Amino acid sequence: MSNPAWGMNTRMIHSALNLDSQSGAISQSVIPAVAYAFPDVETAAAVVSGEKPGIYYGRYGNPTVRILEQKIAEMEGGEDSVGLSSGMAAISSALLAVLQQGDHVVVTKDVYGGTYSFLTSLAPRFGISFDFVDCTNLHAIKAAIQPNTKAIYIETPSNPRLTVLDIQAISKISQAYSIPLIVDNTFMSPCLQNPLLLGADLVVHSATKYLNGHGDVLAGFVVGNKTYTQFIRKKIAGDLGQNLNAWEAYLILRGLKTMGLRVQQHCNSAQLVAEYLESHPAIENVFYPGLQSHPQHLLAKEQMRGMGGIVSFEVAGGIEEGKRFINKLKLAMISFSLGDPETLVQHPATMTHAAILPEERLKFGITDGLIRLSVGLEDPQDIIADLKQALLVEARIHV
Ligand SMILES: Cc1ncc(COP(=O)(O)O)c(C=O)c1O
Repeated sequence: MSNPAWGMNTRMIHSALNLDSQSGAISQSVIPAVAYAFPDVETAAAVVSGEKPGIYYGRYGNPTVRILEQKIAEMEGGEDSVGLSSGMAAISSALLAVLQQGDHVVVTKDVYGGTYSFLTSLAPRFGISFDFVDCTNLHAIKAAIQPNTKAIYIETPSNPRLTVLDIQAISKISQAYSIPLIVDNTFMSPCLQNPLLLGADLVVHSATKYLNGHGDVLAGFVVGNKTYTQFIRKKIAGDLGQNLNAWEAYLILRGLKTMGLRVQQHCNSAQLVAEYLESHPAIENVFYPGLQSHPQHLLAKEQMRGMGGIVSFEVAGGIEEGKRFINKLKLAMISFSLGDPETLVQHPATMTHAAILPEERLKFGITDGLIRLSVGLEDPQDIIADLKQALLVEARIHV
């Protein structure tokens, strides 16, 4: 059991640890078993019905995954959490847990492309409708709420524009209308922001990013009260089968031990990178909550314990110059993911947000020239030197 007085780094290492009683091994044992033996039929039936605690079949839970679920729930300040096979499994499960046929969801207009795709293509097949709303405008949120609105869904800071939303103010609206508020906390990780403590009802994570932090696991979590997490475990993961497995849970447990240090370094380097880009004549706009020029800089300072590792920007000259710049990078790798030790760069309009129609993309602020950089754990001077050499040509063209 962890000590509530412990800081985040201590809790990330020590909370929910379940040492092997025979060997005393400090790293978590991996239990990959799918099936579990019971002393008699009555006990088996009691565990399946939930009368007795226990794990009975891999699709409904696993002991190694359970340790991780408890750790993540504790780090987010939630009653419980459920581990799933990806961030999208977490997002779709959270939405399916609160929405049913005929329901409507208010969604921030600046969301991850996969979330947009789920809401606009799959959810309507099950009678779920949606409205994308500028959630920086609290009046617009209230105006979008309909009698059948059963969820508000936000992502803050958003992917890829880094728009910061006021979780506490939005949670007051959701509470006034008795509508659950779901927050995608992937960009921040529990190290930097805890939406449940600010009034949200459910937090979703792509653990593929900072939680694991090494680019070798796909996973997701939904954190919140047990009514939701048990429903997701039994009725969504149970029936659709997107459970997290023990091996991947083990890798995330290992990744979490260094998350505090990693996230700190991502934040420090991203701030330096953002300041460098902002001062460069070939860069038109930089989006990073740690810059004073960011429209929600003050809110970010209040709500977040760090500004995160993602910096987005527009190179002067639009899409062609943007692509030329990306292709000239030598250290940063062109990739769809983020939150890894390696600096990763991508072009949202043609990569992560390609599922969104061009006119919709523009409404969400995803211009053709926008570039997203996931600042890695390399020495910051090397990341900046790489950007500098790639920008040399741009500067010659545009200055
Ligand atoms: C903010 C955000 N949420 C969710 C996801 C989806 O995560 P996954 O790829 O683990 O399904 C991503 C993926 O990039 C993301 O950036």
